[in-house]
Amino acid sequence: MTVSKMNPQEVSAAAALDRMLFSQESWSEADLAASLEDPSRRFWSAMEGDVLVGFCGISQSFEQGDLLTIGVHPDHRRKGIGNALLSVALEAFAQSGGRELFLEVRASNEGAKRLYEKFGFLPIGVRRGYYQQPKEDGLVYRLEVHA
Ligand SMILES: CC(C)(COP(=O)(O)OP(=O)(O)OC[C@H]1O[C@@H](n2cnc3c(N)ncnc32)[C@H](O)[C@@H]1OP(=O)(O)O)[C@@H](O)C(=O)NCCC(=O)NCCS
Repeated sequence: MTVSKMNPQEVSAAAALDRMLFSQESWSEADLAASLEDPSRRFWSAMEGDVLVGFCGISQSFEQGDLLTIGVHPDHRRKGIGNALLSVALEAFAQSGGRELFLEVRASNEGAKRLYEKFGFLPIGVRRGYYQQPKEDGLVYRLEVHA
């Protein structure tokens, strides 16, 4: 498995996986393609050979940023891919001056919360009813990134 910057040829597979994982809240292929061109955003793909098995993306504005998305195909979970994607994203964020990274996660998403907490993210707030279908609170997490 390798993690590298997402290239335009991978957008279609990434959008398909995003749709499978997040349905109503997923990125369209057009939005993802546009985001790849946005200098304030960066995306990475996890590849097993030529198959895209995971992706993640962040946005950054000076010292602050957001984890926009992270997902791993269900057949490839618990093999360290989410860990590898988040490590690469955090390293890139820190290298370009990022000091504070935020994210939102469904309150019931225990696996993702565990992953984030492993990296030192701490819950700092609740957005009531932030998610739809099913309606659910969003937890806001923050990570202080050291240079
Ligand atoms: C969250 C997600 C990205 C994790 O990807 P992954 O490749 O399975 O994660 P890893 O194998 O790197 O796991 C790293 C650590 O995270 C934690 N973790 C990950 N999934 C977990 C789960 N289902 N239950 C408990 N802990 C979990 C564990 O601490 C794990 O370490 P371990 O396997 O040594 O115990 C993946 O489950 C996913 O795509 N979920 C659906 C999409 C999603 O919810 N994204 C987050 C939106 S905010």
